[in-house]
Amino acid sequence: MLTTLIYRSQLNLSCETFPLDALVEKAKRSNTALDVTGMLLFDGTHFLQVLEGPEETLDALFSKISLDIRHQNVIELMRDYAPRRRFASAGMVLFDLRLETPQVILDSVLRYGKLESYLAADDRVFKFIETFATTEHRAQADVRFDPNHWALEPKMASFRPPTPTLWPGQMCQFALQPIVEPLGRTISSLEALVRGNNGGSPEQFFSAIPDDQIYEVDLQTKAYAFALAEKIGIGNHKIAINLLPMSLVHVPGAVDFLLENIARYGLSPEQVIVEVTENEVISGFREFTSAIKKLRAAGIGLAIDDFGSGYAGLSLLTKFQPDKIKIDREIVSNIHLSGPKQAIVNSIIKCCSELEITIVAEGIERLEEWCWLESAGIRRFQGFLFARPRLNGVNEIHWPTFKL
Ligand SMILES: Cc1cc2nc3c(=O)[nH]c(=O)nc-3n(C[C@H](O)[C@H](O)[C@H](O)COP(=O)(O)O)c2cc1C
Repeated sequence: MLTTLIYRSQLNLSCETFPLDALVEKAKRSNTALDVTGMLLFDGTHFLQVLEGPEETLDALFSKISLDIRHQNVIELMRDYAPRRRFASAGMVLFDLRLETPQVILDSVLRYGKLESYLAADDRVFKFIETFATTEHRAQADVRFDPNHWALEPKMASFRPPTPTLWPGQMCQFALQPIVEPLGRTISSLEALVRGNNGGSPEQFFSAIPDDQIYEVDLQTKAYAFALAEKIGIGNHKIAINLLPMSLVHVPGAVDFLLENIARYGLSPEQVIVEVTENEVISGFREFTSAIKKLRAAGIGLAIDDFGSGYAGLSLLTKFQPDKIKIDREIVSNIHLSGPKQAIVNSIIKCCSELEITIVAEGIERLEEWCWLESAGIRRFQGFLFARPRLNGVNEIHWPTFKL
């Protein structure tokens, strides 16, 4: 299927200088042979390239271009399908913003693209070109957060070691995974993730519970999480637990049960954060809000988990504002390569900063993801990059350290 792909990138200044005209000539020949057409904009530091052609051919070509060391920070901006090509007449044409004014360049692009200006006003491809040509400072990579300047240093956290023994009658175990502020080297909280007594996943554990007991069991398990917190000595740290909001609605005295067990294991309600997922909030919103009032009145914190994964997204925040949101891992994975993901996360950051909601980015596995998110303004992170969950204890934490 005819596909249009747009990306932007930056000249790699540490790479030897090379003649751009020659690169474009070579690209033109090989694109023509591949049935690929397009254009390249360059302003002296940044590139914006439009490529059109059969989907698989573009995938293979874009993979090759992304690995070219002559440029870096290659970010895909758009991938779309179209009935016809905009730049049908050539395999590749260079528009050099150092040689002409943006207006002259845009006029030539319109002529070359054979698109009337009134049509171009609504065309996303031309809008990307126009914004690139007329914006002075395009997304500069923050040099402080260049992934090449960071390494990870493992350090054991100061908790008591894992405790493998089970209490009599214990129905499940917990693995703890820290949520960290890497620049300050602090642990913001420990998330307690339920595991079966054989170490199995939450899905395995809950699949063995009869449907009519799910809420009761969901609530009861939290007592073991608080007990573990005491056993390993979490001190003043916070502990985050996952709870089905309907457990608060359907189990009589649910909030009192939580408060009793929080106190029994020497914790304070302010140390506890209840995480509920976006979909669970939306599917029973009225019941959820009445249950949540009791939690808030008791001083327990609230976080929305998997934010952005469901059908609510930012509109959820028009109805209800939690203390924290955890951005869904799907949105932050490979964020350094994706323009749409970057735009969405930037809008979440702006919205949450106006509403004073703390953001946690979860599922971080790559230094590049952390670097991008940190430079965008996110401070709290969770993921294998920093620490894996550990059954009945806390694993060593890998702290990023700056290196020259
Ligand atoms: C900004 C930029 C744009 C490029 N555009 C193309 C292109 O449109 N087509 C192409 O074949 N190569 C393009 N290249 C070059 C490719 O990255 C790669 O070097 C080229 O395909 C040669 O690959 P080969 O050595 O496998 O033949 C571009 C490189 C850069 C830095």
